[in-house]
Amino acid sequence: MRHIQETEQDNRMEKERPIYVTMPSLAPLEEYTELLKGVWERGILTHNGPLVQQLEREICAKLELDNFVVVANGTIAIQMAIRALALSGEIITSPFTWVATVSAIKWEGCTPVFCDIDPETLNMDPDKIEALITKDTVAIMPIHVFGNPCDVEAIDNIAKKHGLRVIYDGAHAIGSHINGKSLLQYGDITATSLHATKLFNTAEGGGCIAANNELYKKLKRIRFFGHDDNKNVVEDGFNGKLTEVHAALGLANIKYYDEVLEDRKRKYFYYKERLKDNRKISFQKTIHGDPNYSYFPVIFDSEETLLSVEKKLNKHQIFPRRYFYPSVNTYTQIVAYQPSPISEDISKRILCLPLYLTLEIADIDKIIALLNE
Ligand SMILES: Cc1ncc(COP(=O)(O)O)c(C=O)c1O
Repeated sequence: MRHIQETEQDNRMEKERPIYVTMPSLAPLEEYTELLKGVWERGILTHNGPLVQQLEREICAKLELDNFVVVANGTIAIQMAIRALALSGEIITSPFTWVATVSAIKWEGCTPVFCDIDPETLNMDPDKIEALITKDTVAIMPIHVFGNPCDVEAIDNIAKKHGLRVIYDGAHAIGSHINGKSLLQYGDITATSLHATKLFNTAEGGGCIAANNELYKKLKRIRFFGHDDNKNVVEDGFNGKLTEVHAALGLANIKYYDEVLEDRKRKYFYYKERLKDNRKISFQKTIHGDPNYSYFPVIFDSEETLLSVEKKLNKHQIFPRRYFYPSVNTYTQIVAYQPSPISEDISKRILCLPLYLTLEIADIDKIIALLNE
């Protein structure tokens, strides 16, 4: 009886515990509150406080970066990058992204021009860039999709040949490498995100990594209303600051960065090994560098298959995410439609499966079994 009761309870719990596509990686609460005590004691909540400065130093040390300007979120990081480079005109970007890439371009008064993607890497196809360059083109903004490194060399060569700037949307790219260095160190500026869903998070947050000291200093002024060190307004800046409360979370979480990275990689290959013989599924391909395995996207043979798999998983309280869907070039409320057939096709067939630190192997086994059924 007791056994039956327990089984019934287990079943109920099983039903009641949903599995989402991601859950934030969080340090133990006591470690966070310990850092908050200092915030309370100092009474400094923002304005480039000591924890923001410490977080920037620790991120640089951990990711082997020369600089990192911590900001309020990844969208503002892209806007700040555009502003720091004083861009005005057309920016060639990828339609296979989160809408923020495009809204940031538009908020800075520039025009997004869509370059279709490579169907295997899911990144902007460098062979398609040059045909899109006009007299108004000022920059290229590729995205390292799901942390998969773009062909940075090819993009750099095109940019140099045509006198264009390169801003990478590296929202997913923390922890990825290419040619032995952090992927965040490519382009004139890389903008990244420290959002709750990212591998390393400050709840909301982001950052800019600049190619040189001049740009780095300019980004810091833009973040603080355009003020210089003497409080004179010398730039057309705005408020891009991160709070001490968020920085404290980042400092607590950064201690677990290696563990989170390792866990993602282990689970990524666990999934892949067990799904590799499924004929209805294919995977994103890495050609350049080492990704961070921060997402586990699967591409189905058709949207129909995707929808039936999604329905089946949902029935079992498993909620993967159609990401990126739809292709951003089809958001006609905010952009004029420019065809990008590969991105439009992939976005209809791609699903990101649950992948996060507290996800259990038993949960992955269940997802795999449902997919292979
Ligand atoms: C590719 C990409 N770019 C930009 C952003 C914007 O970052 P944030 O949410 O920190 O503003 C995201 C957010 O998830 C993203 O996925």
